[in-house]
Amino acid sequence: MRILVAGTGFTGSRILTALRKSGHEVLGLNRRGEGSGILAGDVLVPESLKKLKTLPAFDLLISTLSGSGQRDPERYRSIYVDGPRRMMDQMIWRGAPQVWMLGSTGVYGVGDGRWVDETTPAEPVHRTGQVQVDAEQALQAHCDQTCVLRLSGLYGPGRTRLIRQALRKRPFLKPELWANQIHADDVAGLVAFLVDRETAPPTRLLVSDCQPAPRKEIFEWVRKEMNLPEGLYDEDHPVRAGADRGNKRVDSSKMQALGYKLKYPGFRDGLGELMGNF
Ligand SMILES: NC(=O)c1ccc[n+]([C@@H]2O[C@H](COP(=O)([O-])OP(=O)(O)OC[C@H]3O[C@@H](n4cnc5c(N)ncnc54)[C@H](OP(=O)(O)O)[C@@H]3O)[C@@H](O)[C@H]2O)c1
Repeated sequence: MRILVAGTGFTGSRILTALRKSGHEVLGLNRRGEGSGILAGDVLVPESLKKLKTLPAFDLLISTLSGSGQRDPERYRSIYVDGPRRMMDQMIWRGAPQVWMLGSTGVYGVGDGRWVDETTPAEPVHRTGQVQVDAEQALQAHCDQTCVLRLSGLYGPGRTRLIRQALRKRPFLKPELWANQIHADDVAGLVAFLVDRETAPPTRLLVSDCQPAPRKEIFEWVRKEMNLPEGLYDEDHPVRAGADRGNKRVDSSKMQALGYKLKYPGFRDGLGELMGNF
């Protein structure tokens, strides 16, 4: 297949590499155009995308754009909601356009620890989640063949928030909140697996490992593995309103049933490998 991977950051770069390894012809796109086979283009500057028109036809666009670092919420919205359409409109297509995007389980407003799956209504409680819902809807309105991969918390080398939290000296607040994670290598592996399958991917798939865990369980395990004394927990601390938003367990059984074998099925597998760097 001839594929454009938009965004070559933490996850996009891994997806690009995995697809090239599988033998696909893959171009990347980021703002600087740095790297081999990477185009310079900024989805906030439609003029910069015009060169897409001059390239041979594509089969698939995979958007891994992230605008969450943007201070300006309108720029974030413009990247995330309008970005895939702006690229798609400039691309020449070999058949019917196919666009996949990395979304987020942040679309679920659940805060009581219940399970969510692909059938759970997306009812975000914060602005970022609403932008993600709008982006999914905008994509589906503009393209017939779409796949939204709703990712849980991304981690991997250099992104080790839960380990850093486990090591801190202050008491932990709300240790009973659930953590749901997916290693970036598994996102890349899954995308390559879905591209190589004969059948079209589902239009919506939750992407998370098989083991949601209370944060306390993860913190205790990390500290034990690193021979540190037990952490301090402040279970009764009065927390600000909304602090438990996003407290949910992500059910990834649909993803598992497709047959992709996770390299890091649980937090011990993935975090264990990363602890050596601390
Ligand atoms: N982090 C998480 O825990 C998490 C959880 C769930 C879902 N997700 C979703 O997963 C996706 C990938 O996340 P990530 O952390 O891998 O992203 P990332 O490392 O921040 O990379 C984002 C990429 O998007 C590109 N980009 C940003 N603005 C752009 C613009 N205006 N025009 C063109 N390219 C632009 C960046 O290009 P430059 O290289 O030029 O900066 C970068 O290559 C995102 O959609 C995110 O919402 C993340």
